Amino acid sequence: MTEAVKTLAPVMCVVGARPNFMKMAPILRALASHEPPIPALLLHTGQHYDTDMSKKLFVDLGLPQPDINLEVGSGSHAVQTAEVMKRFEPTLDEYKPSCVLVVGDVNSTLACTLVAVKKGVPVAHVEAGLRSYDRKMPEEINRLLTDQVADRLYTTERSAADNLAREGIDLARVCFAGNVMIDSVEASRAHARPAAQTLRDHSLDPALVAARYGVVTLHRPSNVDDPQTLKHLLDLLAKVSRDLPLVFAMHPRTRSNIERFGLQAVLDPARVAVLPPQGYLEMQGLMGGATLVLTDSGGLQEETTALGVPCLTLRENTERPITVEQGTNTLIGLDGAALLAGVAEILAGKGKQGRVPEFWDGHAAERIAADLYQWLTPLSA
Ligand code: UD1
Repeated sequence: MTEAVKTLAPVMCVVGARPNFMKMAPILRALASHEPPIPALLLHTGQHYDTDMSKKLFVDLGLPQPDINLEVGSGSHAVQTAEVMKRFEPTLDEYKPSCVLVVGDVNSTLACTLVAVKKGVPVAHVEAGLRSYDRKMPEEINRLLTDQVADRLYTTERSAADNLAREGIDLARVCFAGNVMIDSVEASRAHARPAAQTLRDHSLDPALVAARYGVVTLHRPSNVDDPQTLKHLLDLLAKVSRDLPLVFAMHPRTRSNIERFGLQAVLDPARVAVLPPQGYLEMQGLMGGATLVLTDSGGLQEETTALGVPCLTLRENTERPITVEQGTNTLIGLDGAALLAGVAEILAGKGKQGRVPEFWDGHAAERIAADLYQWLTPLSA
């Protein structure tokens, strides 16, 4: 006997900031290609809004134009979160989705979750259960609170369920689906833009990436908002760059702080190519060809593991421990000696090889769509 086809109200898929886009693109595709298709709406809160941080990524990832854009823009955490909440509430009333699907840990993730649960709209959280156990990170607060109140929790690694269980969350709410971020890595492998081309696009000398090079990103407030810490990190990058040329894709927060603190002269432009935030395909090409990646990003720790590129993470902790245990990631923190030793080891060919974790196989979004279809309540006839 075949199962009756459910009639569903659309799933409202929320994105807000850069790291959400690569997670949502495969989910939207999987909802559309599910049999039967699961209707979806794409809502952009507008937390990230400019071409570099948002629009170009939409194009690269094949994301459709958002059905709704709340255009909240920048602000303090309180202002940004509150503004998303205020603007999201009437939208939810208007569209009456079957559920709200949020990804990751940005302010928009928590804001939309809070509004939806209080209105009795079910919430599904993709990338649930990751914990750095560092409550100074705004993202950690967003993760903890979102998981407490969301109804369906999709995890990327098995340790996430242990974290959730410790917080008293019923594991019946949890589904181990794998990592949607890696779905995007796999989908774009063939289209990644070569690093030399990216440098040429910015009128920089492609010779810098002709042999070995490293890729750098930095944007965590704990690393870039304090002048001493930022100077310390830039000094270290300057040292590394004497042995290995670097390509630094610079977040707007970092760029403006470097200017504010007068640190423009620390990096030698002949050894460090500074680029604006990169498109998705450019970043995949830069990382794919790199000898190593230096970063404080969560996403890059995962992507380098999938690409098999050694990653030195400039943070004391990670909410993605599997990248250290199984992948290519090493936590360095702010320890200069450890960083230089880590770089030397990689340059000597002794970097971590790693292996790709379970369900980081390019099919996580399909598993989510299949589970979501079972879980969603149909519209009453
Ligand atoms: C946010 C996320 C973080 C994510 C990061 C990736 C939260 C709590 N943090 O941090 O998890 O890793 O995005 O980028 O949600 N700006 C622009 N253009 C934009 C967006 C921002 O110039 O399109 C500027 C803002 O004016 C601000 C700075 O960049 O000065 C920081 O942006 P913001 O969204 O506040 O936080 P992120 O540090 O980007």
